[in-house]
Formats: sequence, structure tokens, C-alpha cells
Amino acid sequence: MRMLDIIDKKRNGGELTATEIAFFIDGVVNKTIPDYQISALLMAIYFQDMTAAERKTLTMKMMESGDRVDLSAVPGIKVDKHSTGGVGDKVSLPLAAMVAAVGIPVPMISGRGLGHTGGTLDKLEAIPGLQVEISEQDFVKQVTEQGLAIIGATGDIAPADKKIYALRDVTDTVDSLPLIASSIMSKKIASGTDALVIDVKTGAGAFMKTQEQAAALARALVDIGQSVGMQCIAVITDMNQPLGHKIGNTLEIEEAIDLLKGQGPADLEEITLTLGSYMVVLGQKAPDVATAKKMLQETITSGAALERFRAMIAAQGGDPRVVDDYSLMPHAQYQIEFPAAKSGVVTQMAADEVGIASMLLGGGRQQASDQLDYAVGIDVHKKLGDPVQAGESLLTIHSNQADISEVQALLAANITIGEHAQVPPRIYQVIK
Ligand code: URA
Repeated sequence: MRMLDIIDKKRNGGELTATEIAFFIDGVVNKTIPDYQISALLMAIYFQDMTAAERKTLTMKMMESGDRVDLSAVPGIKVDKHSTGGVGDKVSLPLAAMVAAVGIPVPMISGRGLGHTGGTLDKLEAIPGLQVEISEQDFVKQVTEQGLAIIGATGDIAPADKKIYALRDVTDTVDSLPLIASSIMSKKIASGTDALVIDVKTGAGAFMKTQEQAAALARALVDIGQSVGMQCIAVITDMNQPLGHKIGNTLEIEEAIDLLKGQGPADLEEITLTLGSYMVVLGQKAPDVATAKKMLQETITSGAALERFRAMIAAQGGDPRVVDDYSLMPHAQYQIEFPAAKSGVVTQMAADEVGIASMLLGGGRQQASDQLDYAVGIDVHKKLGDPVQAGESLLTIHSNQADISEVQALLAANITIGEHAQVPPRIYQVIK
């Protein structure tokens, strides 16, 4: 078999066989296919798409390229959640604690942020001492004993994805539906969960800019999961404006804990309860989402979810006192208000650009090797549709540099005050 023939077939719109896909993935992992031929096939897939059968085979071959986590020792139906990534998206943190508090084991393998989107692992590391690089053995032990763990990928999960993702990043082939779907699902299947709820973001701050694109990705993810016997539901949610009020690592931990104390912002609470309800139904602890939602609300009012979160921090070596004392996490030297230029209502707050503003402050990475400043970020006071007076603060910028003119200019160009706002729904669609 020759790689050139595989590229030629896909370039001309043909359907690759399982043997051809296996040859490709083996060559990626064994380094027998040069980067220029891998990249050429990625570009051909980008333009020609893949059939459902090709997507499933690609996912399975990528999954089989590395280790698989064995969670069989953990009793019960294990349920995980994945988000395609957003700005201010700290949902995984309160969600894992709430779902664990109703008795469902949550083995969450999360990622780091790159570009304008944040990563759950980076947020957790704002908590002094907390470890996210944990051995598989300790991961299984913690999920069994505490009911939840949020960690980085153990061992060598889907090495083919690592190589392919790095090439997609530099060949402008990241936003390809079959490549995103196989990348996400190969890692999720390898992570050993029984069931998965996927938050597919759509809007300015998401990979999928339109609802139609998001629905197509959601369908592909759910189909791949279900084809291997994983219970899978996707919820399409809005990412035109940041989620919640806080963006930045320490700030997002604070907001996640606020939610667990019953003091979270309404949009974050709604998305968390909705995703969580589907997790509780998949975990067979409730017959329907309405009952599941009540159970999750009860974990907040009783304090059970907050205690789960505290216990998880302690189990992963972090300082659990942060739950009661936010000053134990790093905070920025300057708090700079960003006033509204005129009176009206907020009509635009581009999520991706607000995320880039936080990244420029040091809260995110431009390159994978960048060091993060956990203290910095943005506290949004006014969201889409909110009335505002000229001079009133739209947001507070938390910075460790006094001169933030670049960040201020970026925000000024991407936040608009007008007369009528079109406030997008928080939740668009559920795909089962
Ligand atoms: N997340 C992933 O893991 N892979 C992608 O391709 C996109 C988002």
C-alpha cells in the first residue's frame, strides 16, 4: 500500500477502507509517513469530508494507537462530560462535584487551554498545591473513594491524535468535522467512561460558528460514541458571549465555588444543571431530566456538592481552604475598570476576542509552551441585553501590568453598546 494512493483517493472524493485508514494511523504513530503526506491527507479530508463508517474507523484506529484507561474496578455507571471549548467555560468544575454528590462516579480527563479558550486543568492549577498529573492507579482509587477526579491524560492516550492535532494546528485543518469528531472521541473512548455528555458550543467564541455546523458535529460525536456502545448525548449551547461573569484561572475557580454555594450566575447555573441532568439520567440515578435537575439543585442547597469539591481538592494535593478563603489563590496587582463609552444596552461582546484579551493579560497561552499567570483575567459586569449608563463599568480587568492599552483597545473594538440587543438563547438543541 502507498500513502500517495490513499491521498489521491480521498482528494478525488473516494471512501477510504478500514485497511487504508489503519495504514495511515500506523504510519503516523511509527513515523513511517512523512509530515507532508500526513498534512496532504488532512487537507483532502478537510475538503472531501468522511462517511460515517470512515469517521468511526478513524476514531477507533486513533484510540487503539495508545493506552486505554481501565475503570472496571470502579463500581457503577461512570459518566464524563466534554466541552468543545469556550470562554469563561468553567462548567466541568461544579458539574463534576454536583453529579458525584448524587452518587455517580465522574472520571474526568480534561485538557489545557490554547488560544482564546481556557482549559479546566489550568484553572484547577490556580489552587495552591493541586496536582492534575496523576497515575492511572491513583485516578481509579480517587474515583472509587471520592466519586470524582479531574486530571490530565494519563500515560499515552491516543498518540496518533497528538501528532495529527499538531499538524492540523499548522496546516489550517483544525475546523474539520471528521477530524474534530475523531480527535475528541478517540480520547473519550480511551478514557474508559461508560457514558458521555458533550457540550457542543456554537457562536463567535466556538469552533462551530453556526448552529447548523454545531448540530452536524454533535450528531457525528453522538453517532461515533453510540456505535461503540457508549451512552452519548450532546447539548448545543451558546458561545457568542462569555459564559458566566469571570474569565481567567483564579477568577473562574471563584465563580465555580460561588455556584456550588448557590451564588453562581444564572447562565452558568442553567448550563451546568442541564448538562448535569443528562449525566444523572445516563448514570441511571433519575428517570428523567426534570427529576435529575431537582436532585442536582438539592446537592447545592444541602452543601453536598461543595463538600465533594473540597474533598476532591484535598485528594489531589490542593489546599481545600480556598473554598472558604479565595485570597489563598493568586490575585492580580491591578484592578482596572473598563467604562461604557455611552448609554444604551450591550449589543455585542464577542466571546473569542474577550478570551484573547484574557490571554494577552497572561491568563491563556498563545503557544503550548507559554507560562500562565493564574491571577489575571476579566470580570464581566454587563452581558448582552443589559442596560448601561455612560461611564459605568462594563468589566474589571485584573492585570499584573499597569499598561494594558492593547487589551483595552481590543475590548473597545469588540464590545458594542446600542439600542436593541438580540440576546441568544443559552441552549439551542439536544442531540441523542
Ligand atoms: N478538542 C479536541 O480534543 N480535538 C479537536 O480537534 C477539537 C477540540
